Amino acid sequence: MFRESDLLLAIETSCDDTCAAVVRGDGTLLSNVVARQAIHEEYVGVVPELASREHQRLLLPTVRMSLEEAGVGLDDLSAVAATRGPGLIGCLLVGLSAAKGLALSRGLPFVGVNHIEGHLAAICAEQEWEAPFVGLVASGGHTELMYVPEWGEYQLLGATRDDAAGEAFDKVAKLLGLGFPGGPIVDRYAQQGNPKAIAFPRAWLKKDGPFDFSFSGLKTAVKYHLEDVGFFDEAAPSSEEPATSDPDRDAFLADVCASFQAAVIDVLVGKLELACKETKTNRVLLCGGVACNGALREAAGDMARSLGGELGVPSPRLCQDNAGMIGMAALSRLRAGETDPLSLPAVANLDELVLTSPFAGA
Ligand code: KG4
Ligand code: ZN
Repeated sequence: MFRESDLLLAIETSCDDTCAAVVRGDGTLLSNVVARQAIHEEYVGVVPELASREHQRLLLPTVRMSLEEAGVGLDDLSAVAATRGPGLIGCLLVGLSAAKGLALSRGLPFVGVNHIEGHLAAICAEQEWEAPFVGLVASGGHTELMYVPEWGEYQLLGATRDDAAGEAFDKVAKLLGLGFPGGPIVDRYAQQGNPKAIAFPRAWLKKDGPFDFSFSGLKTAVKYHLEDVGFFDEAAPSSEEPATSDPDRDAFLADVCASFQAAVIDVLVGKLELACKETKTNRVLLCGGVACNGALREAAGDMARSLGGELGVPSPRLCQDNAGMIGMAALSRLRAGETDPLSLPAVANLDELVLTSPFAGA
């Protein structure tokens, strides 16, 4: 049985952040270290092979730092957890293999965690959050809308059919020449812009997928708009130039970002509201990197309160990929006396995980 004073080391390497955390059995996060891989900025997107090599380089120093910050050593650990999927397979394998190796060499129990369940569980590091609720995981790789009648039971209502919400932010930022990752930059520009300046389309998919999402048409609409106004004909400012050098250009970028962001938020919050009504729930949990977006938090909060409910959203460092959230998800399984065999494979696709055992990681 996992006791309140026992310590768990959690590892997350599903995409481009190398993460390690130490979690105490009572749910306290003793450390939560994230090593961001800057190498992808040059390519304005994540390069999978480079990401897995960077994980190999960064993982042990990151684990060491998480132990140091927590003030503990390897001998103090009682269990090891790692993300088993979904994610980039080469990246998953680095963290999963390291966790298994550590578990094997120290004779510790091991838990493989579903990344999506990790995102949902992140909030438990900061506050009590009871089911039932409607959850939205929106990140660079995911846009999943779920009904969670109780923790451990996850009903997938809908998902994106093409780009993930965060991917749409990243691609639009790339079109605008704003850098990577695009979400925080678009968010910043949008705060100065008019969300009604440009009427970008909203894909409601009302007839054939009321809970599904599609963002690729929106991204194309932004591209066509930029072509129409001759944006690509003008020389883009060089990366050395300060982004604020041209007020007209900044005002234009702000309006495009605000209008694009409004289109994404309308759809995300509209579908969250529909899911609440359908499942007779008024409690909404937002998570994933896109949940850092201030306007999305505000709109989702207003919506939940208009239904007499509330919004739960972790602080930004717990919304983005981190190992603390993996530790929180692992903790509930350890408390229930569940562990995984060291033969547990990494799984890249969410579909295969759902088929095996919904988010349980078994
Ligand atoms: O959860 P996360 O750290 O990693 C993935 O699992 O993908 O999410 C990263 C994504 C990126 O696409 C990033 O652009 C987006 O979250 N993001 C945001 C904001 N901050 C990060 N999107 C919109 N607004 C933000 N403030
Ligand atoms: Zn994620």
